[in-house]
Amino acid sequence: MFPNKKPKSITIPEHIAIILDGNGRWAAKRGLPRTAGHQAGVENIRDVTLAAAEMGVKALSVFAFSTENWLRPASEVDFLMKLPKAFETRFKDAFEKHDIRVMFSGRKTKMSSENREILERITQRSVHRQGLVLNICFDYGSHEEILQAVQHIAQKVSSGELKPDDITFSHIEQELYTKDLPPLDLLIRPSGEQRLSNFMLYQAAYAELYFADVLWPDFSKKHLHQAIEAYTQRDRRYGGLKGTS
Ligand code: IPE
Ligand code: IPE
Ligand code: MG
Repeated sequence: MFPNKKPKSITIPEHIAIILDGNGRWAAKRGLPRTAGHQAGVENIRDVTLAAAEMGVKALSVFAFSTENWLRPASEVDFLMKLPKAFETRFKDAFEKHDIRVMFSGRKTKMSSENREILERITQRSVHRQGLVLNICFDYGSHEEILQAVQHIAQKVSSGELKPDDITFSHIEQELYTKDLPPLDLLIRPSGEQRLSNFMLYQAAYAELYFADVLWPDFSKKHLHQAIEAYTQRDRRYGGLKGTS
């Protein structure tokens, strides 16, 4: 149809992070309880993960429950604490088929031991897989992550294993949940909010930010394509000059 038009080359980000926001508003718009929004949100994690894998994304981090979300009414928190079981049952077959590896980032001390076991079981079941890594951030908060990193480094200093002057960025990065993942390229927040809400504060230093005016359960493959297309147009300078890095 456009014989002279060159196909647009798309740069696929290696590591994308998404703040899964807007479940409650999605449910309210339909006259449903907020929990129905969370349920639809879980189903969408699977669909968007498979779409990202198909596009060649290597790692996808999704923010599913924050260290601040404990502030919500007990009934909602109770429902959200059933998410690990939902991840286990709702993702199992599709992720096995598509070789998706699942890992979890976040605090493990506050959740029930049953949930800890479920997260461990999901992780172990997929540890050998070679496809996209889905990093589910559950009871995750950047401040908590950085605090834990500082505590571990302080322990090494106090035991004499490390001198304060020898601490490098690499020591810090090795203590973050993301230590085995590629650097964060693109951070997406659906729902219309334009803030990070304590997500990936260290990792987002030079990530491209993309805000989508769509609620998470409605965020589809098409929106992921749009975000990646916008990413392709960005000029990542890392503090240098245009075209240099
Ligand atoms: C995101 O959706 C899911 C969690 C934070 C657990 P919300 O529950 O924040 O939905 P809104 O922002 O109220 O619409
Ligand atoms: C961020 O969404 C946390 C998750 C999506 C898990 P929130 O809905 O909790 O964020 P705020 O309260 O609008 O900043
Ligand atoms: Mg929200």
